[in-house]
Formats: sequence, structure tokens, C-alpha cells
Amino acid sequence: MLGRLNHVAIAVPELASAAATYRDTLGAAVTAPQALPEHGVTVVFVDLGNTKVELLEPHGANSPIAAFLEKNPAGGMHHVCYEVDDIIAARDRLRAAGARILGDGEPKIGAHGKPVLFLHPKDFSGTLVELEQA
Ligand code: CO
Repeated sequence: MLGRLNHVAIAVPELASAAATYRDTLGAAVTAPQALPEHGVTVVFVDLGNTKVELLEPHGANSPIAAFLEKNPAGGMHHVCYEVDDIIAARDRLRAAGARILGDGEPKIGAHGKPVLFLHPKDFSGTLVELEQA
């Protein structure tokens, strides 16, 4: 079921400076910022060839990463995103196995224009997992 690692996401308090660090200090290719109001974040992607790093900054008042940044004011690793071929089949299989799907359980459209779901960290070794239909 599980495919490639699509990205590792890092929550940051200030996207412009984090993007500049990856672009200028680390010499990486960084995309322009993209606001995703439905997800409560603004993102940039760092292209690493084999995978990506997603830098996340809160967008709006009720951002799902606000509490994380309160606990981790300097930022930190927030989630990993794995690719799946069929997100509905993956969801149903995980549900049948007892895993908790966050939100209403219906996929939302993610930063790549593809359906995504998030899985409860307590069911996956303390790590928030995003699934993206490849
Ligand atoms: Co993500």
C-alpha cells in the first residue's frame, strides 16, 4: 500500500527566513510560498531530487500548526508524507485496522493538487502521517 516518501514537513515560525536558509545557506531549490487556507498553512517546497522538504508557516487564526509552534517555538519536524495509489482504499484499510483518520475522514486537496489525509500520531509511533494519492 505504502509508496514513496513524498516529503518531510517542518513547521517554522517565519517562512521567509526558513526558506532563505534552505535557498542561500544550503543552496537548495525552493518554490515560491503558497497559501493553503483550507489547511491553515502557507508552504514552500525544497526539492531534493529524491524527495522534498515542506516548510510550513501558520496561515490564519486557527492554524493546525499553531499549538505545535507554541511547544516548539524554533520550529521542528511536523509530519511525514507517504504516497499511496488509492487514498480511499488506503483509508478504508487503515480504518479496518483500527487506525484513526484525522478530521472528517474525507480527503482534502493538498499542496500538490492531490487528495491527502492525515493519520493520528498515536497510531504511528508518535509521528503525524500524511497520505497523498500519487
Ligand atoms: Co505535508
